[in-house]
Amino acid sequence: MMAFTGAGISVESGIPPFRGATGLWSKYDPKVLDISYFLDHGEDCWKFIREIFYDFFGKAKPNSAHFALAEMEKAGLLQAIVTQNIDNLHQMAGSKNVYEFHGNSSRLVCLKCGTTYYTEDTDLRSGPPRCKYDNEILKPDFVFFGEGIPSEAWDKSFECAEQCDVCLVIGSTGEVVPASYVPHKASQKGAFIIEINPESSQFTYSVTDLWLQGKAGDVLPWLMEEIRKE
Ligand code: APR
Repeated sequence: MMAFTGAGISVESGIPPFRGATGLWSKYDPKVLDISYFLDHGEDCWKFIREIFYDFFGKAKPNSAHFALAEMEKAGLLQAIVTQNIDNLHQMAGSKNVYEFHGNSSRLVCLKCGTTYYTEDTDLRSGPPRCKYDNEILKPDFVFFGEGIPSEAWDKSFECAEQCDVCLVIGSTGEVVPASYVPHKASQKGAFIIEINPESSQFTYSVTDLWLQGKAGDVLPWLMEEIRKE
């Protein structure tokens, strides 16, 4: 069994989804995460990036849904998680096999020399972080609009989708490609798709075999309990 997760699994950790009435894109212009805009306006972008992803997300902690998935992995029930999320909450909850389809905000990277830094070791208060070797403005190590998906994450995610017998699809609208191809691939290869979401999504009436309508923080601990009874 594998899990495919989206922003919805982190909503109960206080991180708003991207879409919907209270979504991030209703407050911020997505252009701050467009790679070509970032390359020309790094200082401006960092004002928003820091506010959205570090001042705000930075304090988020895993919720019961993240911990339930980590428990499923520890019990040998869950092989891996493919996540669209960049908040590092799966790893903080103890999950080991996490494929970061859109990267991870806990790392920063220098686009010039390739040096990687950990965000927690970097002072973001005094302006955009810079590489200590060539003073370039560092970029958060998550995928900006206009960038490709990290090749290793891509390969492992689709390998997982091709081999799994069950795919839990948790907290995603399914509106973003190519990430949303992962559950479609799993379904195409015969996996049973269980969707966990309080609202319907692009998956619900196309690939979902069982829709557990509800919040991830309620449904996943319940599911873990049900599996334990088996
Ligand atoms: N539990 C489960 N699902 C929830 C919860 C909850 N408590 N609250 C909201 N949701 C669902 C919403 O119904 C919606 O379907 O989470 C989904 C959030 O949708 P999006 O914000 O579009 O998140 P996602 O599908 O992960 O977006 C994909 O878009 O902007 C890019 O890179 C960004 O990774 C992101 C990608």
